[in-house]
Amino acid sequence: MNLQLTPEGRLKHLLTIDGLPRHLLIELLDTAQSLSNIALRANKKLPLLRGRTVMNLFFEASTRTRTTFALAAERLSADVVNIDVSTSSTSKGESLLDTLATLHAMHCDMFVVRHADSGAAHFIAEHAPEGVSVLNAGDGRHAHPTQALLDVYTIRRHKPDFSALTVAIVGDVMHSRVARSELLALGTLRVGELRVVGPRTLIPPGLEEMGVRVCTDMAEGVAGADVIIMLRLQRERMRGAFLPSEGEYYRRYGLTPERLKLAKPDCIVMHPGPMNRGVEIASEVADGPHSVILEQVSNGLAVRMAVMAHILGAQVPVMEAA
Ligand code: NCD
Repeated sequence: MNLQLTPEGRLKHLLTIDGLPRHLLIELLDTAQSLSNIALRANKKLPLLRGRTVMNLFFEASTRTRTTFALAAERLSADVVNIDVSTSSTSKGESLLDTLATLHAMHCDMFVVRHADSGAAHFIAEHAPEGVSVLNAGDGRHAHPTQALLDVYTIRRHKPDFSALTVAIVGDVMHSRVARSELLALGTLRVGELRVVGPRTLIPPGLEEMGVRVCTDMAEGVAGADVIIMLRLQRERMRGAFLPSEGEYYRRYGLTPERLKLAKPDCIVMHPGPMNRGVEIASEVADGPHSVILEQVSNGLAVRMAVMAHILGAQVPVMEAA
């Protein structure tokens, strides 16, 4: 059973990029583009989700994702409740399903969930009452679909022809839900060349079979790239020794101004955040002219508005992009 699509092919939940058709990804990106102007207006609200209720349920730390989901729902005029799990009854031992049933008794339309366990969003969607949608805001190392959508949206704004692009994803791919979702989205959008770059210990098996080029040498990995996506070392998900040291990692895989020169002259540099300066990326690069890292945050708002509007069936008018 396809949990996230209705028989008509619309999104009911957004749990993963896996299995989403290309035309649906493009529709979501186009809707986000229509909504991108709203942020620049004095009045930043649209009445599209007036009367609907969104609950933000974060069991793991978050700055960007949680804030942009809350703001996205508010800009669509929904009522938004942010539940800080560390101060909720979950910390008193209440089970996940009891917490959800309690929240649902307040009649909400959507749960936005982040959880440390891979599969948590699917589990919640399976148990969600009829009429309640679940949006995955990151589950373990499995998926982070809205991050992938906002990343491909950001790429498209700078470089619209995906087939002509070489995209390099650098770092801790093994523990990264962002990388997993990005690889699926970029594959569906038929990117010309897809590379992952990092030490063997941080690259999951099976990528070559998906048509991804695996590079353990940073210079080779970024050579001629149009887009470089840097990843954080997910220390909280590592058990045992994957790396010699952070200093050694930076020497081999850190994105420095010298290494960036190996990429295309108009290459864009991305990072989902939070960044560790001097571990995976040099400050000069993070703050430099190639960086679109803060633009990713702004785009996250438009993309999350688009996903929420689509799932809750709101008609978004076609508007000129920002
Ligand atoms: C990422 C996440 O939480 O998966 N951050 C984000 O959502 N912007 C990446 C990370 O934590 O490194």
